[in-house]
Amino acid sequence: MSLLFTSEQQALFESLLQARRDVRGNHFLCDEPVSDDEIQRILQAAIWAPSVGYSQPWRFVVIRDDQVKQQVAHSFKQENEKAAHLFDEKQQQYQQLKLEGILEAPVNIAVFYEPSTAPVLGQTSMQEMGEYSVVCAVQNMWLMARSMNIGIGWVSILNPEDVKSILSAPKDNKLVAYLCVGKVDEFLNRPELEQLKWDKAKTLESVVSYNRF
Ligand SMILES: Cc1cc2nc3c(=O)[nH]c(=O)nc-3n(C[C@H](O)[C@H](O)[C@H](O)COP(=O)(O)O)c2cc1C
Repeated sequence: MSLLFTSEQQALFESLLQARRDVRGNHFLCDEPVSDDEIQRILQAAIWAPSVGYSQPWRFVVIRDDQVKQQVAHSFKQENEKAAHLFDEKQQQYQQLKLEGILEAPVNIAVFYEPSTAPVLGQTSMQEMGEYSVVCAVQNMWLMARSMNIGIGWVSILNPEDVKSILSAPKDNKLVAYLCVGKVDEFLNRPELEQLKWDKAKTLESVVSYNRF
């Protein structure tokens, strides 16, 4: 018999989806450790994700070393300085945003896409499906961590080639996500960028159409 969920469990899952947050350095508790067992549970959730042709094209690097984190933080700083100039009248607000928690989070996890050398079922027309599979794994991690009251923040303002070189990644691997993982002082009840009026939540009606665009 397949496992069926009750309406209470569905409601619980909805509340988990709603309560997931991107966490940045202003909310991580630097001195609260995250255990190896907790990281294992989060990684186990990652590899339960769907993947194109069951290719499971993910690789994870768990980082606790401060020197490695310092090097990645340096890449963020360089990239973020370049980014600020792109936001014209919002530049000042951009510069005030905290957009990572690399040093504050006790654990960082770099997530890579490792392409297969053989053709992959389902990936023959749209190559990007391999990378999308890795993104599914990241979402599993985000939700699993939240269910354990552990925060995750996704940092993408990085030079991927710099991160690959810092982590001695194989040439053909592609950086998909760089995650900061840690205990938090609080989980905000709305996205921080919404609270700070950087952007608004889109309504369901504004993004769904039927039969044609
Ligand atoms: C692919 C991806 C990349 C992201 N990169 C960053 C980033 O570099 N810095 C940052 O502060 N937040 C980053 N975020 C987090 C988003 O800003 C956040 O998900 C969004 O504002 C909604 O907030 P919530 O996740 O708390 O609901 C990223 C999220 C995704 C999905």
